[in-house]
Amino acid sequence: MTVDRSGKKHRPADDARLDSPVNDAAAHSLSEVVGIGEAARCLGVSTSYVRHLVEQGALTATGTPGGHRRFEVSVLRAEWDAYRAENPGKPDWSMTAPLEGLEEDRVWARLRDEIGEPIPQRAHTILAYAVTEMVNNAIDHSGGSQVAVSARVIGRALEVRIADDGVGAFRRMSEGLGLGGPEDALVEVTKGKRTTAPERHAGEGLFFTLRASDYASVSANGFVVAASLDAGTDRFASGSSRNAGTVVTVRVYLDTDRNLIDVFEEFAPLGEDGIGGFVATAPRISLVSRSGDFISRSEAKRFAAGLEKFERVVLDFEGLDLIGQGFADELFRVWQHEHPAVRLEVSGASRGVQLMIDRALRSQ
Ligand SMILES: Nc1ncnc2c1ncn2[C@@H]1O[C@H](COP(=O)(O)OP(=O)(O)OP(=O)(O)O)[C@@H](O)[C@H]1O
Ligand SMILES: [Mg+2]
Repeated sequence: MTVDRSGKKHRPADDARLDSPVNDAAAHSLSEVVGIGEAARCLGVSTSYVRHLVEQGALTATGTPGGHRRFEVSVLRAEWDAYRAENPGKPDWSMTAPLEGLEEDRVWARLRDEIGEPIPQRAHTILAYAVTEMVNNAIDHSGGSQVAVSARVIGRALEVRIADDGVGAFRRMSEGLGLGGPEDALVEVTKGKRTTAPERHAGEGLFFTLRASDYASVSANGFVVAASLDAGTDRFASGSSRNAGTVVTVRVYLDTDRNLIDVFEEFAPLGEDGIGGFVATAPRISLVSRSGDFISRSEAKRFAAGLEKFERVVLDFEGLDLIGQGFADELFRVWQHEHPAVRLEVSGASRGVQLMIDRALRSQ
């Protein structure tokens, strides 16, 4: 039995029917490293198929001195989703349209009317938001010529895939925000307010889509970032991916009792004027670097870019065993001193991480 964030219980039989790597992997913790047999069980496929996917470059395995392949569960899960995004099989519904002149609300309306499955109100609100935002991104940011949208009902969930043939979201962000490359953009989708078109956009679409969906992944330019609300799995994971353009996959349980408005309330609470300002964020630090040192001041500076736009920043240290003194000092002393109006909070810190944070705070 698993329990999602809303406290809703999923029976094992339902989870099995969901045919989802996310649920199958739920028994493993984020940083767990497993052998090929366990990896295959995680994904619900044969070991020879896993071996085949490793040889194809779709899954990343590390070797042990004894020559056995090892897989990190969070990476395995993200890469499997990217692979499925690239090789989706036959959907229940699909359409391909030129981006020129396309209106995102009409795409959603067609999907909703033609999928042949009633979509209850709460799931409808989340899916309508996610699909229109992601199609709008394809129209406004991709620079591509067309978008393919497909949907399927998997167990109790509706999964929608939005794929464009443009430059890729991580490259677009890297170039537009002056980052070092697509790899540096992974963390940006967990920050919010990181837009490359500030005159017409706010940088909210990806942030809220990743947090409102039961499962969502963004794959582009060789990388994938996946977000999951399922209990037992880590919220964010990253891996490699090989599709062209940008592919976003979102999955929402049709019987979800989560309200989109509550997700907005968490980060953009309604003020006295009745307007919900996007004032809080919770960026995931482990996405800053795939090599995972988190030692240097420059890594901390890269990570902090854009966070000054928020009143409250919950720094999400999940998945990190340790950070360096320079990293902690830059963030908690230097950056905080430069931006006294921003309230920094910490979540998911291991003992080692907390120790370094305390040291940085003590030396203020
Ligand atoms: N399909 C895509 N192709 C290329 N770049 C993309 C794509 N989707 C997102 N991006 C990049 O990611 C950035 C963030 O996207 P996001 O949807 O979060 O915000 P936005 O579209 O800029 O603003 P808003 O969604 O609030 O209108 C975009 O500004 C763009 O640089
Ligand atoms: Mg957008």
